[in-house]
Amino acid sequence: MNKEWVDQVFNLDVLEGIKDIPDHSIDLIIADPPYGLGKDYGNDSDKKERAAFLQWTEQWLTLTLPKLKQTGSLYLFATWRHSPEIFVFLKTRMTMLNEIIWDRRVPSMGGSTRRFSSVHDTIGLFVNSKDYYFDIDSVRIPYDQATKKARTRSIFVGKKWLEVGYNPKDVWTVSRLHRIHSEREDHPTQKPLEIIERMVKASCPANGIVLDPFAGSGTTVAACQLNQRHYVAFEINPTYHDMILRRIHRIKNGAYDITPIVERTERPNPAGDNAKNSLRARRKNKTLTNQTKLF
Ligand SMILES: C[S@@+](CC[C@H](N)C(=O)[O-])C[C@H]1O[C@@H](n2cnc3c(N)ncnc32)[C@H](O)[C@@H]1O
Repeated sequence: MNKEWVDQVFNLDVLEGIKDIPDHSIDLIIADPPYGLGKDYGNDSDKKERAAFLQWTEQWLTLTLPKLKQTGSLYLFATWRHSPEIFVFLKTRMTMLNEIIWDRRVPSMGGSTRRFSSVHDTIGLFVNSKDYYFDIDSVRIPYDQATKKARTRSIFVGKKWLEVGYNPKDVWTVSRLHRIHSEREDHPTQKPLEIIERMVKASCPANGIVLDPFAGSGTTVAACQLNQRHYVAFEINPTYHDMILRRIHRIKNGAYDITPIVERTERPNPAGDNAKNSLRARRKNKTLTNQTKLF
């Protein structure tokens, strides 16, 4: 098989480029397309009317899904406005495993007066067959020392789950990216690495290939580089395409700031000593890593 497309990011419309990817060659698709909400990506890709948007979604999915292996999976980011229609379509082709809610940790500031404020993205996880690849142990969330200590009573002793950590469940509370986040690029809808890395580690075997049809700032590509997976990605906007190439270059040269996001609400005692210490460590780390940045 000609594998010249592996580990490449193409500055192309995915509808055009996808035909050069062989069928059944991809382990995982992470698709974060325009949501149909009118965002400005330097093009009209997010400005379609509802019917045209849904038709276009069906079109790129129809071209892209055959690229997946039988053991492959798809994570599809969407908004609640369109996810019902898109998921119904996908269920005719694949098996739905999860609806994951990404709680973006939007602060409470008044908000809408005519309905409840929407603060989440919807992510559908679909698989091709019952033989899908899935490695929960690689994405378990460790319990902190305080929780482990609190569970010293005899009923918990010897419980493996305390050591291995817990399943992240299907509500993922991860802050959207702000300027203070070291991984932030100049892209309007960049996703946090923490989310994409979880998908890559759980659903793509080591050295497998991840396809990102809408690469944006290159978060999927970065997650693959950082976790020894291969990738192929498409991004239609040349400015974002350049951004991805620079991100790849920084990672290759060890000049990438990957200070983790620490504000997880799930962690017990978020305002306690642990949180303060890791924030301090992060600030210190940020100062160090900023000095080594190439761009
Ligand atoms: C929601 S953003 C992806 C953000 C990305 N996940 C990240 O973390 O940075 C969608 C991207 O798809 C790109 N795009 C839109 N239509 C496209 C198409 N037909 N082919 C390839 N890329 C496209 C847009 O320019 C935009 O950067």
